Amino acid sequence: MNASFLRRPQRSPGRGPFYTTIALALFVGGLAIVGASPQAPTPAPAPGVIALSVDAGKPGAKIDRQLFGQFAEHLGKGIYEGIWVGPGSPIPNTRGIRNDVVAALKALKVPNVRWPGGCFADEYHWRKGVGPAAARPVTLNPNWGGVTEPNTFGTHEFLDFVDQIGSAAYLSINVGSGTPQEAAEWLEYLTAPTTTTLGKERAANGHPEPYTIGYLGIGNESWDCGGNMSAEYYLSQLRVYSRFVRNFNQAQRGAGRMLKIAVGPGGGGPRDADWTDTIMKSWKGRQWSWDHMDGLSLHNYTVVRFPASYKSVGFGEKEYAEILQATLEMDGLIGKYGAIMDKYDPDKKVALVVDEWGSWYAQLPGTTPGFLAQQNSVRDAVIAALNINIFARHADRVRMANIAQMINVLQAMIFTDGPKMVLTPTYHVFKMYVPFQDATSVPVSFEAGRYTHGSITLPRVDAIAAKDASGTLWLALTNVDPTTPAEIATTLTGFTPKSATGETLTAPAVDSVNTFEAPNTVAPKPAVVKIDGTRLTMTLAPKSVTVVAIRP
Ligand code: AHR
Repeated sequence: MNASFLRRPQRSPGRGPFYTTIALALFVGGLAIVGASPQAPTPAPAPGVIALSVDAGKPGAKIDRQLFGQFAEHLGKGIYEGIWVGPGSPIPNTRGIRNDVVAALKALKVPNVRWPGGCFADEYHWRKGVGPAAARPVTLNPNWGGVTEPNTFGTHEFLDFVDQIGSAAYLSINVGSGTPQEAAEWLEYLTAPTTTTLGKERAANGHPEPYTIGYLGIGNESWDCGGNMSAEYYLSQLRVYSRFVRNFNQAQRGAGRMLKIAVGPGGGGPRDADWTDTIMKSWKGRQWSWDHMDGLSLHNYTVVRFPASYKSVGFGEKEYAEILQATLEMDGLIGKYGAIMDKYDPDKKVALVVDEWGSWYAQLPGTTPGFLAQQNSVRDAVIAALNINIFARHADRVRMANIAQMINVLQAMIFTDGPKMVLTPTYHVFKMYVPFQDATSVPVSFEAGRYTHGSITLPRVDAIAAKDASGTLWLALTNVDPTTPAEIATTLTGFTPKSATGETLTAPAVDSVNTFEAPNTVAPKPAVVKIDGTRLTMTLAPKSVTVVAIRP
């Protein structure tokens, strides 16, 4: 499960005189160039046509499937109602977990789910969420609306959920208000054999076999809601927790071992650069056990400024352009923190784990304060595609990411309302991108053109390409321009296509959304792709995401 996360990353082949080998976003005077255009042999495209060049013979880094991870926090209706309805609910469920949501998530092949927070994690005490449900204490959720937390969805329920959707568990442990002993005992409870008292207790609670825990987050935003710590203070906590919080599951020895993720930067301020430097410098120093940290987290939301005030529906092109400009900052942040990591870890052994990303808008009117309920429009579909493309371009360093959040919160995959469920435009993009999970990047070069609105100019088109294990070549294309279609002519090198099929997602307006009443306003439809030898042509609709399968 974790072998690819751990692997020594494959390097992209070196730069030759004529080609840039792997997509690299440059933004020069308003003209975005992804990679460098080959000097030959691409024929000049007709005026107005965007020429893409895909070199299938030059494999790059693997696009780790863990980049498609999700985040599910005890926040608003993310867990209670979104996942958990309880075994007595009239909503069809399996052991309290709703069947409709499980079926929808299974189709996404979600590789890992981060839980229980977020800010919630640093106030979560696992003991309150195990044992007979009726005996569990009712606590508060001070971070998110101050509502009551029934603790009916706890450790076993979460692990049942990830099992039902076929995913891996990414636990975030309480460093802020917990103790190393509490966290160590949680892991012992989860993973020790039944010869121990904690293992016996787990068995008595219904799970004799040790659990498999894929990932362990040591704290969350420890510079803020996770304890307002300085980098130095957090570092000392990281050393202690990583030393004592052990996984005893013998079946996870070796390549499948539990990977530890340390708190890294959030956003792009000077504190964040210093924080990254402090942790990475210490990692290089090897002052304690070498395996204390396999990944360093980065949190970055698409927001123009906090408190989030942009509307998630009922906005115009101005807000569309401004939010897309904000989302593209992800690329610069990864570059910035990647460069600090490179100083201490040039072999890229430590992954940059973007375990909170996504759009953050004003809460929908009439919803409970602190529940972070927002709509999800075709703009969010474009945001999802642009960010996944950025991660894929940095696949040698970025080997895991978790969109915030899975259900009913922030940039969600799914909305629920009682027995009703609707899939968001972001869900559809994640589904369309499934073939990119664990596929191998191949270089794609093009001049993106520009989309201008007012003072904002953005690259008009974006693209990534990858080859899967069966030899199919996949091309993902985004047309950011909300009004003008983009004509694309793709030339393939090192690949002879026999057939090409695709799906495209677009919508009538920049703020088109899916609702319970009209669930398919933003849903994928077949794309028209024409093949002529090694040349593919297609038209990208305005504000669209398209994924094409090109079969040999
Ligand atoms: O995703 C919502 C919150 O955003 C998380 O709890 C926190 O880690 C971040 O600030």
